[in-house]
Amino acid sequence: MEKQTHHNLSFDQFDEKMNPRPEYSEFDGVVEKAIARRGFLQGILAVGAGTFVAGMATQGVRVAAAADRFGFKAVEANSLDTITVPEGYKWEVLAKWGDPLFENSIPFDEESRGTSESQALAIGDNNDGMDFFSKAGRNVFVVNNEYVNRDIIFGNRESGKPETDDDVLKGKLGHGVTVMEISRNNGKWEVVKGSNLNRRITPDTEMVLTGPAAGHDLLKTSADPEGRTALGTWNNCGNGRTPWGTYLACEENFNGYFSSSEENFEKTADQKRYGLSNEDWGYGWSRIDDRFDMAKEPNEPNRAGYVVEINPFDPASKPRKLTALGRFKHENAEVVLASNGQVVVYMGDDERGEFIYRFVSSGKFSAGGDNSSLLEDGKLYAAKFNDDQTGEWRELNPETTGMASQAEVCVRTRQAASAVQATTMDRPEWVASNPNKAEVYCALTNNKNRGIKPNAGGDATPAAGPNPRPANNYGQIVRWVPENGDHLSDKFAWDLFVLAGNPGVHSDALAGSANVTPANMFNSPDGISFDSNGFLWIQTDGKYSNEGDFAGMGNNQMLVGDTETGEIRRFLVGPKECEVTGAAWSPDRRSMFVGIQHPGEDGNSHWPDGGNSVPKSAIIIVEREDGGLMG
Ligand code: FEO
Ligand code: CA
Ligand code: CA
Repeated sequence: MEKQTHHNLSFDQFDEKMNPRPEYSEFDGVVEKAIARRGFLQGILAVGAGTFVAGMATQGVRVAAAADRFGFKAVEANSLDTITVPEGYKWEVLAKWGDPLFENSIPFDEESRGTSESQALAIGDNNDGMDFFSKAGRNVFVVNNEYVNRDIIFGNRESGKPETDDDVLKGKLGHGVTVMEISRNNGKWEVVKGSNLNRRITPDTEMVLTGPAAGHDLLKTSADPEGRTALGTWNNCGNGRTPWGTYLACEENFNGYFSSSEENFEKTADQKRYGLSNEDWGYGWSRIDDRFDMAKEPNEPNRAGYVVEINPFDPASKPRKLTALGRFKHENAEVVLASNGQVVVYMGDDERGEFIYRFVSSGKFSAGGDNSSLLEDGKLYAAKFNDDQTGEWRELNPETTGMASQAEVCVRTRQAASAVQATTMDRPEWVASNPNKAEVYCALTNNKNRGIKPNAGGDATPAAGPNPRPANNYGQIVRWVPENGDHLSDKFAWDLFVLAGNPGVHSDALAGSANVTPANMFNSPDGISFDSNGFLWIQTDGKYSNEGDFAGMGNNQMLVGDTETGEIRRFLVGPKECEVTGAAWSPDRRSMFVGIQHPGEDGNSHWPDGGNSVPKSAIIIVEREDGGLMG
């Protein structure tokens, strides 16, 4: 998520307010260095983003963009309060916040915006990462409910805040994950209300802690002296799926829910690194649940910030927190099988100046076998990007980090990556791996602190390498090719697939790379997903003012990138004040599911229901009018 109205600050801004980062003392030197680097940047711009430069030996000559491989006419930017798709395509809503899931669900009430009782039995708010699963003729759709818009869900209150204990619980239960059966009836996908596969996973659902940190002292609390059973998941951002059919929900800004009943509670360096503060985001969970009071339960925050594995076809199964994949503000988890069957997971930590990670399982995937513990044991790495467009994965273990155990590495993962001097990135969002070749992409959404302030751990953030622009407010997408096309290799080569910018306003590096034009410009790439053709779908969570540096970009949007030619074309524009996030396809690839999150977050939308209705996050289905393939 980017924007959230709590004292009108974003999550990152709130973290900075509560835990101010020191200013660089050598500020001028940093900017000078950034300017001196312009030669390198211009090199990328001149060559064009579709071309790998000399260092990328694995790629051939640029492929000419002769034929129109996309097959649709670009959508123009707009600021309308609706969805816009190309001619020949149609969209409709599959499901939205507050929709009933069970036979005893209570219909959404526009006036009260629900109660804890109705929310417990309904789809959560702010849908984000999502995926589609099929088994034995049944289809299950799983979607993260990242957070709740307090101004909207508590809009029945004069204060716009949770006023009663039930308000707090309603907000809490709007978080988590929704699992729902869907079926296609008369050519239309619909939620199967009352299906025995439907499930709400919430911040109170019992979960198993797995991996190196399970049972460690850092995870013990008064309610769980063994440190092996956690309650719930919240702020689930992007997602992943495993080859064995499980869903991965990734815990991102988990810190914003903790507070302290002791005003002068002294936070440890660890707590500060993860942005924990004595004041929560306004959710008030500690009011009804002591777990969220750090003065009472200082270890509870150590039990959040993980990837959570969920079996979509077993509503009775306990979700599993995977400490082996590290603890940070997880965006998504892109799972790739190495040629020998080891499982590789690529992950970003979405905060200014944090890192990109790779997990490699010890065991190997076995089709039809028991793969349930593959993500419990393996090696964890952080990425170092060199300025010469090479890079390496640096392993995080007690020897390389100076930590006492792998358990500690898996809890204090940010500090471990700082210890090996991984590269501070411009807010790593989704990672996506090309299904047709060994190359991996990561959206670096923006970073206004680049070249200006260190990250939360004090690591420098010079404008260099894949983060070339100081005070970067447009973002870029980096890609890397593992050496010899082997995801197990510790070496890679990298370049920038696109440097977002505004060629209508700027003519320098802020205009973006050669594949950015006035017809396709955008800012803040966030969700990225490959379709089966190897096209990269790019979703944005950026500024939608359509003014100044953002003039001509309109609302947040979804574009398609051709990774062979570098061409990018706008496919969809979202309604007012939304971000577009989350993508999934039906098994026949004729339906594409797209997430529309927080329309009207500033109070100016009535999407999707129109009239005077409360705006609602929703999952939409996009199809071709002729029933053709969607990717
Ligand atoms: Fe939840 Fe990094 O976006
Ligand atoms: Ca974002
Ligand atoms: Ca995101």
